[in-house]
Amino acid sequence: MINVALVGTGSIAGTHLEAFARFKDRCRITALVDRSGEKAEKLKERFGLDCAIYSDYEDVLKLDSVDLVSLCTPPSTHANLASAFLLAGKHVLVEKPMAPSLSECDQMLEAAAKGDALLSVVGQNRFYDPIRRVKQVLDAGLAGRIVHAEANSYWWRGRSYYDVEWRGTWESEGGGCVMNHAVHHLDLLLWIRGMPSEVQAVTVNTSHENSQVEDLSIAILKYPDGTLAQVTSSVVHHGEEQRLVFQGERAKVGMPWQLFASTEGDGGFPQRNPDLEAEIQQVAGELAPLQYTGHAGQMDDVLRAIESGSRQVMIDGIEGRKTIELIMAIYESSATGKPVALPLSKDSIFYAQERILREAPRFHSKA
Ligand SMILES: NC(=O)c1ccc[n+]([C@@H]2O[C@H](COP(=O)([O-])OP(=O)(O)OC[C@H]3O[C@@H](n4cnc5c(N)ncnc54)[C@H](O)[C@@H]3O)[C@@H](O)[C@H]2O)c1
Repeated sequence: MINVALVGTGSIAGTHLEAFARFKDRCRITALVDRSGEKAEKLKERFGLDCAIYSDYEDVLKLDSVDLVSLCTPPSTHANLASAFLLAGKHVLVEKPMAPSLSECDQMLEAAAKGDALLSVVGQNRFYDPIRRVKQVLDAGLAGRIVHAEANSYWWRGRSYYDVEWRGTWESEGGGCVMNHAVHHLDLLLWIRGMPSEVQAVTVNTSHENSQVEDLSIAILKYPDGTLAQVTSSVVHHGEEQRLVFQGERAKVGMPWQLFASTEGDGGFPQRNPDLEAEIQQVAGELAPLQYTGHAGQMDDVLRAIESGSRQVMIDGIEGRKTIELIMAIYESSATGKPVALPLSKDSIFYAQERILREAPRFHSKA
């Protein structure tokens, strides 16, 4: 039985507790931790938990009754809290984004190594069948070499979204829609397509005058083989029609599911290729559906890695760091107006938090 402490009993905490509740024979919640004891009490009551409540995470570091920590606090707290738990030998599942800077990601990776503990970063969208289907088809090479990818991370948030204390500042949110919303699509894009070698981006704030950070960003990603991806990150898109589409040389596939295969007709004009479409559809259909999806899928993955002693999780700290590296390249390109080469070095102006705080544009004052 794996003992779990949940730290940060705000909005996302309920999703974690619901997910853990799916595995009552494998784990139990032994502690809820929040600076606001009142919030923790309410959550305990709501879920009918039999657990201890703490307002200071330091009181939980040495508890034998904690094996795994689910970290659901604001982004700027992730590195210090996760590192403290990891150094104390506790496994940590940290909410996205891993941390608002690469130096903090490196601090967490180092702590995991020193504490000999497992670190996993939430990316619940990898645990859904529609995206796994797309990956299965692309990995099988059926669509051919990928020449273009499009990630539309379209969300819509009103002004009052930034009324929450930690949102809308570089210090505590660590960025805007690229860091906190597109992080999901960027994780999927990297998972499927790998790391680009160059990024050019523009970020702006069009509609949220109470926030320092961007609400819209367009980035062009160039891959070592000369192909491109475009990523739009937004909290100003009505309808929130999110999608991820890959154009292969022989077919396009995307999520929500879309498929179109063309072959060359007379004069080079496109001719639909129903045979290839049928073949792709068949491979996509062969994928066995996941038993647990979203956060529950990720909890299952983490619990299994602890139970088996393998420590192999779908999204470890290195994977989580990759997404932050791409986000930082987007921010650096936007701040400098220049293309940014990847990987980012420790000399990058967007490597460490103090430099980010110096260089990042404040579009408005947080209000
Ligand atoms: N995976 C997803 O889809 C998803 C969705 C929403 C939020 N999130 C992420 O979850 C995290 C939390 O977001 P939220 O919306 O739940 O925030 P929230 O503000 O609702 O809750 C955060 C809680 O952490 C507590 N807290 C802050 N600092 C603390 C500390 N040092 N020790 C103990 N408690 C502390 C606060 O009192 C608060 O109750 C963020 O990283 C966010 O990006 C992920």
